[in-house]
Amino acid sequence: MKDGRRETEDGSREAGVGLRRVRSFVRRPGRLTPAQERALEELLPRYQVGEGDLRDSFDRPAELVVEIGFGNGQALVWMAAHEPERNFVGIEVHEPGVGRLLRDLAAEGLDNVRVARRDAVEVLREQTPPASLDQVRIYFPDPWPKKRHHKRRLIQPDFLRLVAERLKPGGLLHLATDWMPYAEWMLEAIDEVPELRNLGQPHVERPPWRPQTHFERRGLKRGHEIVDILVRR
Ligand SMILES: C[S@@+](CC[C@H](N)C(=O)[O-])C[C@H]1O[C@@H](n2cnc3c(N)ncnc32)[C@H](O)[C@@H]1O
Repeated sequence: MKDGRRETEDGSREAGVGLRRVRSFVRRPGRLTPAQERALEELLPRYQVGEGDLRDSFDRPAELVVEIGFGNGQALVWMAAHEPERNFVGIEVHEPGVGRLLRDLAAEGLDNVRVARRDAVEVLREQTPPASLDQVRIYFPDPWPKKRHHKRRLIQPDFLRLVAERLKPGGLLHLATDWMPYAEWMLEAIDEVPELRNLGQPHVERPPWRPQTHFERRGLKRGHEIVDILVRR
């Protein structure tokens, strides 16, 4: 520990020991194509969320849906185009994915999406007041299959408590995974949060608002079963 900061497992430093937390991702530089690099330079200023309340990043009031870990952003673009009455914030730390989303947003002329290039836990903690979100969608979060990595899984009771607090009463959390042990882990974590009620028995068919995602297709090719979980605050 140096300067009151402690090194986290991925080598980054977080201020204040009380804030120490294992992250659900490992930052890898990732190669940007020239087009993605240009998109980040030219389009990020237009689509990036501000520093405050996510709702202030839009020039109209509307239901707010947050997608965490949008990957290449294809599903987010599809949903935003099919639900034009809603505002969307996509949160992702993987730069090439952010670059690709920005290009697609501009190409489709969509103006109901904003992007946060930060750890979703920080965005929820710092940029969403209690009861400010209508929906949170998390599709195919990294399963971290090895037991010693389970602590890196995004879905944990503490994380779900944070999501529950940020959702409006009646708000919806939609999870999907192709990794059965993670689905069971998610269901157990949901059970630990009394503010959340699982609407499935224990899970549901893919709802019509969720398109197939890139990681879902990968899972299907490997013969994995897909599970959607719908939870209401
Ligand atoms: C397995 S991929 C799934 C991507 C996409 N949802 C799909 O289904 O194709 C998980 C994504 O979540 C992102 N991610 C993981 N933890 C995150 C966090 N705490 N904040 C933001 N993004 C995160 C990763 O960078 C990665 O792109």
